Amino acid sequence: MKDLVIKSYGDLSFHRTISELIRMHSENQEDVREVAKNLVDWTGVRRIADLGCGYGWFEEVLGDGFDFILGIDCLPSNEAGFLSVAQRVARTARFANLQLPCPIDTDSDSFDLIIAAYSMYFFPDVLPEAKRILRPGGTLLIITHSAGMLEEGEEFFDFSNLREVINNFSAENGEKLLRQYFTDISAVDYANSLVFDKDAGDALAKYIDFKREFISKDISPIVVKVKLLYELESRGMMRFNKNDRVFVVRK
Ligand SMILES: C[S@@+](CC[C@H](N)C(=O)[O-])C[C@H]1O[C@@H](n2cnc3c(N)ncnc32)[C@H](O)[C@@H]1O
Repeated sequence: MKDLVIKSYGDLSFHRTISELIRMHSENQEDVREVAKNLVDWTGVRRIADLGCGYGWFEEVLGDGFDFILGIDCLPSNEAGFLSVAQRVARTARFANLQLPCPIDTDSDSFDLIIAAYSMYFFPDVLPEAKRILRPGGTLLIITHSAGMLEEGEEFFDFSNLREVINNFSAENGEKLLRQYFTDISAVDYANSLVFDKDAGDALAKYIDFKREFISKDISPIVVKVKLLYELESRGMMRFNKNDRVFVVRK
């Protein structure tokens, strides 16, 4: 299941198009990355690791002047995109093609900030290794989905396999999982909905295409597309909650 899901993040330009589409159809126009950034004390942050970095979406909004950024992702196709963004932000940027959880070849206590944006549910067992490489006083910043995001879709379909992935680390159970390794944990909710109006059928179809690997274990993405486009046509508007939570964890 996870392998299928991950494949959908390998097409860099499509992933970028979808990030833009999500932004345009978001009810909450505040960028979740800005919300997350404002929760971090940036004093003394020189060395950053990004777990499940993708093409460097989070780094796009970082200022420059960091010493080192390490992006880790299981898809080698993300290397070029990540490095092109990260090299603008840090004096040295490196990409490691790793299947997390696994040992990360770096000294203990060597990062000031570790980011995991929409990725921790793929590898929650990385938490002890993340703790090892984070320096005392350093921050682990996690953005993750709410398990409730599937509710609207579940009006029509059974998404149990997808639910299983999200439930590996969600807004709802993330704190409990983090408490196994950390004590200083806070969280901020980011409420959002994706809204598609009658004229936005193409955008909704693209969004479903992006999620196709995510949903294909539960149901044919074509069936989902036909049904949701029909519902959009008859209801005139479709809204999907996309509530996230940002966890800020100090070691
Ligand atoms: C939803 S994307 C998020 C990417 C990026 N953080 C962002 O917010 O745009 C999840 C990323 O995690 C990566 N990933 C999934 N499972 C992984 C694993 N086991 N080890 C390393 N990377 C993984 C995927 O390849 C993908 O780039």
